[in-house]
Amino acid sequence: MTKRKASTFVCQSCGYESPQWLGKCPGCQEWNSFLEESVTPKKAKDVTRDDNAPLKIKEVKEDAYARYVTGMNEFDRVLGGGLVAGSLVLIGGEPGIGKSTLILQVMGALARKHSDQKVLYVSGEESSSQVAGRSKRLQILEDNLYILNETNWQRIHKHIKKIRPKFLVLDSIQTSMSSEVQSVAGTVSQVREVTYEVMNLSKAENITSLVIGHITKEGTIAGPKILEHMVDTVIYFDGDQNGEYRILRAIKNRFGNTNEVGIFEMGSSGLLEVKNPSQYFLDDECPDASGRALTCVMEGSQSLFVEVQSLTVENKFGAGRRTTQGLDSNRLAMLVAILEKHCNLPIGYNDIYVNIVGGLKIKGRDADLAICASLISSYKGTPLPEGVVFIGEVGLTGEVRQVPQLEGRLGEMSRLGYKELVTAKRGSRTSDTVKVTGIKSVKDLFVFLGQ
Ligand code: TYD
Ligand code: MG
Repeated sequence: MTKRKASTFVCQSCGYESPQWLGKCPGCQEWNSFLEESVTPKKAKDVTRDDNAPLKIKEVKEDAYARYVTGMNEFDRVLGGGLVAGSLVLIGGEPGIGKSTLILQVMGALARKHSDQKVLYVSGEESSSQVAGRSKRLQILEDNLYILNETNWQRIHKHIKKIRPKFLVLDSIQTSMSSEVQSVAGTVSQVREVTYEVMNLSKAENITSLVIGHITKEGTIAGPKILEHMVDTVIYFDGDQNGEYRILRAIKNRFGNTNEVGIFEMGSSGLLEVKNPSQYFLDDECPDASGRALTCVMEGSQSLFVEVQSLTVENKFGAGRRTTQGLDSNRLAMLVAILEKHCNLPIGYNDIYVNIVGGLKIKGRDADLAICASLISSYKGTPLPEGVVFIGEVGLTGEVRQVPQLEGRLGEMSRLGYKELVTAKRGSRTSDTVKVTGIKSVKDLFVFLGQ
């Protein structure tokens, strides 16, 4: 009898392994996510070395991380002050969002700054001439920047040994594959194996590496969470595909905090840093129209001013429709119900459209009050007073709740010359330059608006 090759079934979404095929993954509840992959027995680690003894924590010396500052301030800030030498960074994002462009620009900047070091950009997605074409367009013409079109890890490794780069990019992890694993590229085993190899190489040779990974529709890096555990830093690049802005966020960072975001703009000559992002999402034109309200939301530690626009139109045929852009439509349905119930505002039968200007997606609840204000303004047909910012969460009983980080937002309002802030009475702050109006419930919003 011929011996069967050892194989296992692996969930492509979370990495759960099972000896047989399963329809639904017990790990992440995903359907139809199992693929058969071959098992490569790993050599056992050498456990005989005895130079590694426990130490008292206070006696352990802290490493001073050497960092490479790229000069792209937004990128450096997100990473906590530049790329740590010998670290492995994973950058995730939807296809077409600009990962390759960003990393090429970062590598160009590094190559320029460290002209005595080599930079190797390995692309399995695009041909060398495609990458070179983009590089020329972006004016990245450094002598020490090398491009390699290759997907096989063993061959990539050979080239790395030959040219000895200090910085390495693997674009993307899903197209790279190792000959030691028999699965196809992009499967969990392959992604894990190649990442493991890159990690070992970066640590052993002190190569600073960046690995690009696509994310799935659900917003996780394809090929599982395991990848995120293995690397030192995970950053996500997202934004509005149709719009220009892009946000870079750190999700995990062993060498810094994860509270920073970097904002970029995609233009004809690549990605540009947005230097003063607070007002980036606002329109300069401020016509005296109803249905517009200003709010300030937080992205990491960055405060962003955004405009909420509502349009309510009478619907003569029964239940009105709700259309949202940039916010959760369930949240809108809830706020509409609150206004109807607690403020006797009969807007339920209207068609309601709400849009967050500039393409930003609002995830928190800080904009609730501004959404309510813009709905009231559109319904009544009266514009809101100019220069007023609304910040607050609205609860089911109509109460206005306080939001975190108000102090910082108030500071930014004052810096940018906004006149008035309407927020929850509880936890509200005062400012010398901004008038702060504290309200307890959405009913008070009507009083404020003189309705
Ligand atoms: P790309 O970096 O290839 O995305 P990813 O690697 O995340 O898949 O960039 C994708 C888009 O960016 C592409 O559709 C064209 C656009 N783009 C510009 O608008 N301007 C530019 O200068 C460049 C290089 C790209
Ligand atoms: Mg790409």
